[in-house]
Amino acid sequence: MATELQNQSLSIFFLLLLPLVQSYPSTSLYPTIQLSIVSTTTNPSLIITFSVIDFGATGDGIHYDTKAIQSAINTCHTHHPTTPCHVTFPPGTYLTATIHLKPNTILNIQKGATLLGGTKIEDYPEEDWRWYVVMAENVSDVGITGGGVVDGQGPKFVRRFDERKNVMVSWNQTGACLGDECRPRLVGFLGCNNVNVWNVSLRDPAYWCLHIVRCENTTIQDVSIFGDFNTPNNDGIDVEDSNNTVITRCHIDTGDDAICPKTYTGPLYNLTATNCWIRTKSSAIKLGSASWFDFKHLVFDNITIVDSHRGLGFQIRDGGNASDVTFSNINISTRYYDPSWWGRAEPIYVTNCPRDSTSKEGSISNILFINITSNSENGVFLSGCNGGLLSKLRFVNMNLTYRRWTNYAGGLADYRPGCQGLVNHSAAGIIMEHIEGFEVENVNMRWSDDPTGRWNNPLDFRPSTVNNISLLNFHSGLYRQ
Ligand SMILES: *[C@@H]1O[C@H](CO)[C@@H](O)[C@H](O)[C@H]1NC(C)=O
Ligand SMILES: *[C@@H]1O[C@H](CO)[C@@H](O)[C@H](O)[C@H]1NC(C)=O
Ligand SMILES: *[C@@H]1O[C@H](CO)[C@@H](O)[C@H](O)[C@H]1NC(C)=O
Ligand SMILES: *[C@@H]1O[C@H](CO)[C@@H](O)[C@H](O)[C@H]1NC(C)=O
Ligand SMILES: *[C@@H]1O[C@H](CO)[C@@H](O)[C@H](O)[C@H]1NC(C)=O
Ligand SMILES: *[C@@H]1O[C@H](CO)[C@@H](O)[C@H](O)[C@H]1NC(C)=O
Ligand SMILES: *[C@@H]1O[C@H](CO)[C@@H](O)[C@H](O)[C@H]1NC(C)=O
Ligand SMILES: *[C@@H]1O[C@H](CO)[C@@H](O)[C@H](O)[C@H]1NC(C)=O
Ligand SMILES: *[C@@H]1O[C@H](CO)[C@@H](O)[C@H](O)[C@H]1NC(C)=O
Ligand SMILES: *[C@@H]1O[C@H](CO)[C@@H](O)[C@H](O)[C@H]1NC(C)=O
Ligand SMILES: *[C@@H]1O[C@H](CO)[C@@H](O)[C@H](O)[C@H]1NC(C)=O
Ligand SMILES: *[C@@H]1O[C@H](CO)[C@@H](O)[C@H](O)[C@H]1NC(C)=O
Repeated sequence: MATELQNQSLSIFFLLLLPLVQSYPSTSLYPTIQLSIVSTTTNPSLIITFSVIDFGATGDGIHYDTKAIQSAINTCHTHHPTTPCHVTFPPGTYLTATIHLKPNTILNIQKGATLLGGTKIEDYPEEDWRWYVVMAENVSDVGITGGGVVDGQGPKFVRRFDERKNVMVSWNQTGACLGDECRPRLVGFLGCNNVNVWNVSLRDPAYWCLHIVRCENTTIQDVSIFGDFNTPNNDGIDVEDSNNTVITRCHIDTGDDAICPKTYTGPLYNLTATNCWIRTKSSAIKLGSASWFDFKHLVFDNITIVDSHRGLGFQIRDGGNASDVTFSNINISTRYYDPSWWGRAEPIYVTNCPRDSTSKEGSISNILFINITSNSENGVFLSGCNGGLLSKLRFVNMNLTYRRWTNYAGGLADYRPGCQGLVNHSAAGIIMEHIEGFEVENVNMRWSDDPTGRWNNPLDFRPSTVNNISLLNFHSGLYRQ
């Protein structure tokens, strides 16, 4: 089953990535793509099913069902090591410590069933990097589906609720991790091949939600993610050092970054995210900030970004190079939130200043933004670094509208994390510095008639650091509401 699906996934990469080396515009290069749902590509009679109830799970939400669930998974795998095997959770609430997936096992959490993560440190393995409610390590053909819920009980990790930003519990007593970032993640696939997560709802992670690390061939489809809007670090999907990842039809409503590719130990190639809806108090899509290796061939298409703190972002800081990235057919609305969250209401944010004096400079090149509409409280921020390593940017078919609707103060350029931090700088439609090659075509910028005069500059560039700009059919003007 996975093979069939993955073949389709690969053809999608091919079709979507082609335009990167072709000239625009050409509609035929962007066909409508229908991914088939994993379950329909498998002959149901080939799937072996074990119910956790038959292994003694209570599903009462009070007693730990860990042993029953883990025995069901182990039995599934031992008896059918090479056949797809589903571990089924009938309606009920299954409280559990960390569970470990075995090769060829899929958790089938049915509609009405919730897998509930424990809230005690003893519920999780010793090493903090293994703190997940569900984890799979170095295995193939694994996944989660069924229409049910995996819930991390995030609110139980809040020490003090705060509209601006909650203060979180820290499991740092072991000294293994620092500060308040010591909390369990929800679902992790580490070093896996052929991962499928589809038709499942992931809720209230205590920390990151869905973590894909060093994996090959991952499909995430029809997944909804709900995190507390005021909880820090409850990222939606973090994809790290992984190749061939498809994310589609996702719905992400969470406090921290929604889709966040990172590189720590190896490069990340071929990621597509399509047909998604996102709301976040941080970045909707962000490459970085962990960026030790390259990011290449990424496509983000047909995405709606609502009331977020930042839309499409690059925070390249550690020497990795980002190239061949397309953002197409995206509607963005960005606004200010409390400044303790990263983001300054920029619809588009591209930066690659080295994190600190020991960091290498990474480049960003060949980046296309096409068919983008934005309504935002701040302008676009494009800032390379001295080495001239931000190159070949294109903005095509864009409507950018600027107006203020919250009372947060503006007037800061945001280089965080690291670099120069926050710097006083008046707002502009597009701020540009250290860029080699920027093409703007069919871009319409509109300004609200702001009596305070905070908007007065469509294009702000440091002339000697910006080379090869072309503006074709670029308009900027006031509008009245
Ligand atoms: C990923 O999928 C492709 C296409 O189906 C396949 O050729 C490749 O072997 C898969 N990789 C792994 C590591 O399973
Ligand atoms: C990325 O996708 C392309 C096109 O499908 C494929 O040729 C290439 O092998 C993929 N790269 C990796 C690292 O899997
Ligand atoms: C951009 O939008 C136009 C008009 O809606 C459409 O014809 C074209 O295919 C789109 N381009 C891309 C790359 O999606
Ligand atoms: C998975 O592979 C990694 C890297 O090879 C290794 O460090 C880790 O111990 C492996 N885990 C298991 C459970 O085999
Ligand atoms: C998701 O699972 C539910 C319950 O099993 C099912 O009714 C529904 O059709 C599934 N939806 C998709 C998109 O697969
Ligand atoms: C653990 O984190 C809390 C909250 O950030 C902090 O106050 C405390 O000093 C930390 N303790 C250790 C041992 O790191
Ligand atoms: C991804 O592809 C690159 C390039 O082929 C390779 O170096 C890297 O090891 C691959 N990553 C994984 C997790 O397989
Ligand atoms: C865009 O995504 C939405 C879901 O967010 C979907 O309903 C719609 O069909 C998609 N449009 C295209 C052209 O794929
Ligand atoms: C963007 O907004 C336009 C106009 O309201 C709408 O037609 C289009 O479907 C939207 N696209 C996305 C991806 O939200
Ligand atoms: C990024 O590109 C530069 C210049 O080509 C190269 O020297 C550097 O090694 C690349 N970084 C990584 C992490 O591969
Ligand atoms: C921008 O606005 C114009 C005029 O309203 C409209 O024709 C065009 O489709 C819009 N483009 C995008 C990418 O939203
Ligand atoms: C930024 O401006 C504020 C208010 O005008 C001022 O208090 C502050 O010192 C300035 N910061 C810097 C770094 O210039």
